[in-house]
Amino acid sequence: MQNMKQKPHILKYFLLFLFLSFPLFLFFFILKTTTNPPPQNPPSAIKDLRIRPGYTSYDSYIQHQLNKTLNPKLRKIWTTRDWDRKIQVFASFFQYFKQRNLLSNDSKALCIGARVGQEVKALRRIGVADSVGIDLVPFPPLVIKGDFHHQPFDDETFDFEFSNVFDHALYPDKFVAEIERTLKPGGICVLHVAISRRADKYSANDLYNTKPLLEMFKNSEVVHVRKVDGFGLDTEMVFRKKKMKEKEKVIQRS
Ligand SMILES: *[C@@H]1O[C@H](CO)[C@@H](O)[C@H](O)[C@H]1NC(C)=O
Ligand SMILES: *[C@@H]1O[C@H](CO)[C@@H](O)[C@H](O)[C@H]1NC(C)=O
Repeated sequence: MQNMKQKPHILKYFLLFLFLSFPLFLFFFILKTTTNPPPQNPPSAIKDLRIRPGYTSYDSYIQHQLNKTLNPKLRKIWTTRDWDRKIQVFASFFQYFKQRNLLSNDSKALCIGARVGQEVKALRRIGVADSVGIDLVPFPPLVIKGDFHHQPFDDETFDFEFSNVFDHALYPDKFVAEIERTLKPGGICVLHVAISRRADKYSANDLYNTKPLLEMFKNSEVVHVRKVDGFGLDTEMVFRKKKMKEKEKVIQRS
């Protein structure tokens, strides 16, 4: 008899316990789902530079890039309304590099991903006569056809390379390796990149800080990093390709 009477009591307390503890469970559940990082948290280097998903092949990536480059409306704007304004801004950037002895009239210069070539025009206007651009679609005589993942130039060709299209690189490490390959020892690379803003729908990667680029330029030293206002790009990173050490030269000769 005693036993039978107790059972409902135990059940009652158990149900009461469940009822009272439910808000507590809910609280911890919410806390866990909101404070925990996403399940596949990538290592830090990858977290700072993300390749955008959705490209099924290199060809589909190129097609997507061509879509913007070949857009007749955009090309019209680039060559009319934008033309002088952009050349002036680029020219003032390049004058700054001249003042810092990073660029001279004698430099052989390359602009990577130059589209219709306003930056090339700016270089020539300030006296850097031997300058050219590359892009998937040529725009002669300023821009010749070339993919920045496989630059159509020999090793150690240029004294100066400029680009503001890093965000369009599907293989950022190839983009950088090609610059280091085609720069002469002591050559200068200037990149304008977006760090605090997200770029357009034609971007292939998103950069969250300068660290990945500092790591990718393996054979260069940093000249400076500064904030700029370059057509939506906010950070300028300047690198100088290292000159070969005497020891390495001896090894190459022997
Ligand atoms: C290119 O643009 C056209 C028209 O806007 C669209 O139909 C097509 O899917 C685009 N192709 C790619 C590869 O983005
Ligand atoms: C470089 O070229 C510009 C434009 O032609 C000229 O004004 C300037 O004097 C040149 N600078 C040097 C150092 O020769």
